[in-house]
Amino acid sequence: MKRLIIGNWKMNLTIPGAAALGRALAAAVRPATDREIAVAPSFTALAAVAAALKGSEIVLTAQDLFWEPEGAYTGEISAVMLQEIGVRYVLVGHSERRQHLGETDLMVGRKALAAQRADLHPVICVGEQETARASGRAAAVVRAQLLRALEQLPATGASTLTVAYEPVWAIGTGRAASPSDAAEMHALIRDELDRTYGGAARSVRVLYGGSVSPGNVDELMATPGVDGVLVGGASLKAEAFTRIAAYRA
Ligand code: PGA
Repeated sequence: MKRLIIGNWKMNLTIPGAAALGRALAAAVRPATDREIAVAPSFTALAAVAAALKGSEIVLTAQDLFWEPEGAYTGEISAVMLQEIGVRYVLVGHSERRQHLGETDLMVGRKALAAQRADLHPVICVGEQETARASGRAAAVVRAQLLRALEQLPATGASTLTVAYEPVWAIGTGRAASPSDAAEMHALIRDELDRTYGGAARSVRVLYGGSVSPGNVDELMATPGVDGVLVGGASLKAEAFTRIAAYRA
């Protein structure tokens, strides 16, 4: 299975800046057969970044989608709309959406299902808050988030699924999870995937996210159970993200 590195640009960069970053990455990121590199611009910049990435092997990702295919859902974006613009991966249930927009595990599962029905590859994001970790509930929280989302997916859902473990306290704080904490949670997620999908779970990648940087990516990528990384802040700088994409594990 190829490793997967995704840059999540969040609500940053307008079209010219996003296109410039796309062009810089297309020129600098060296293709390698053991890894896939992807970037997730805002919806409005997807088309420009798709054009900027043409001819490169960097893959387009969206940050969200809606679960219905079309209709009276003002402001929402469907899987088919993302498909036609060249998107392959789509983040679902990022903690910022859970926190600021009240996304629930049920919504996350429905979004992942809608993505798969349109041949997109959902990246289901899970992760505990600091208070949950402090009170010893991190594993229970992550397991519940994961299982409630997976409940919405068919038994065949493993083939296009990715899970991202992103402890909320590590996002944007410069305080990444330690390799041992990440290894422990990735093992738990892997167990649940095995229980849900059996042998097919092998194709599901489990990414780590939260303050990934050029300085810690090698160690994180060498951590057992870490099949890739989801990068926020450091993905906005061409040089930093290029180094992350060139991780040495
Ligand atoms: P960060 O964000 O790398 O800035 O911590 C990660 C994420 O939210 O996906």
